[in-house]
Amino acid sequence: LARDFTIAIDGPAASGKSSTARAVALELGFGYIDSGSIYRCATLLALRNNIADVSTGATDLIDLINKSSVNIKFQPSSTRSAPNLITGRLSVPDVRILLNEEDVSEEIRKPEVNRLVAKVASDGGVRTAVLGIQRALAGAAETRSTSVAGKDGVVSVPGGVVMDGRDIGTTIFPNAELKIYLDASAMARAIRRWDEMNSSLKQARAADPALAAGDKAPAEYPSVEDIARELEERDYADINREHSPLRIAKDAVVIDNTAMTFEQQVYSIADLARDRMGLERKHDDL
Ligand code: CDP
Ligand code: CDP
Ligand code: CDP
Repeated sequence: LARDFTIAIDGPAASGKSSTARAVALELGFGYIDSGSIYRCATLLALRNNIADVSTGATDLIDLINKSSVNIKFQPSSTRSAPNLITGRLSVPDVRILLNEEDVSEEIRKPEVNRLVAKVASDGGVRTAVLGIQRALAGAAETRSTSVAGKDGVVSVPGGVVMDGRDIGTTIFPNAELKIYLDASAMARAIRRWDEMNSSLKQARAADPALAAGDKAPAEYPSVEDIARELEERDYADINREHSPLRIAKDAVVIDNTAMTFEQQVYSIADLARDRMGLERKHDDL
């Protein structure tokens, strides 16, 4: 029972992997690694060093990746004292991404990175370089088993790690104890991304009166259709590449969340994990 437990969450762009993985990690007291952010950091290195043409071989970029450090700051530890006893409102902890100690969390979500990342991630050499970082981060982030007082006395609660991406269940952790494939319709995913951009725009306006003065969206602000097109192009590249394409692992649990609430999907995944860890389910009331 006290063994470490790995949850792999894969799926297309904006299917909810990252926010779901973070909330599940918090529920279970596990660590969390966002593998997409490592590919985004690699893409930022390419852009900053003018190595946009990765199609002719990416040796310069691979050297840069090997010389760089990526850190993912995620703190589920505040709830570690009783990880499986958490009840109440669902929260999604923040994650900060550090590239060579610089906080690039916002910069790696920019449109230039969105446009280039799938191409960078299709290079076999880049994937090997990222794999080294990924394994090291997972080892460091994984939480250890703890003993918690339950109604039948002290029980041992496993520690573990949640990792999300495209090839986690198929290539990175083929033996993961729980594999989830999250999916949703392209339009639902595009609308969610658009909503996210809208609410960050609102926040920026609330903080800055100059921005609030003009109530029009900035000129470069994409439409839902633009976002849908970008997501579909990236999915096409991720599904059709040669190295570790996006696939549903044969032992993955497929969850289409087009018509599900965020809470439903987080709680059902956390309970699936509890089942497999031999712990009591918490959310049968859903
Ligand atoms: O958040 P979103 O779903 O838009 O993307 P992401 O998870 O940050 O991943 C960005 C890109 O990195 C993907 O489109 C893939 O090209 C690549 N990626 C990958 O190849 N393998 C992974 N395990 C994770 C991401
Ligand atoms: O990591 P990935 O790109 O797959 O998705 P994300 O960055 O977690 O974004 C998904 C967005 O959809 C978040 O704003 C979630 O709150 C929202 N959402 C969801 O994930 N699942 C639902 N059932 C409904 C909304
Ligand atoms: O992976 P490592 O050799 O560090 O040690 P482990 O304790 O055997 O594995 C740690 C976690 O990695 C386990 O929870 C496995 O699910 C996962 N793993 C995997 O999925 N596939 C492998 N080939 C090796 C480990």
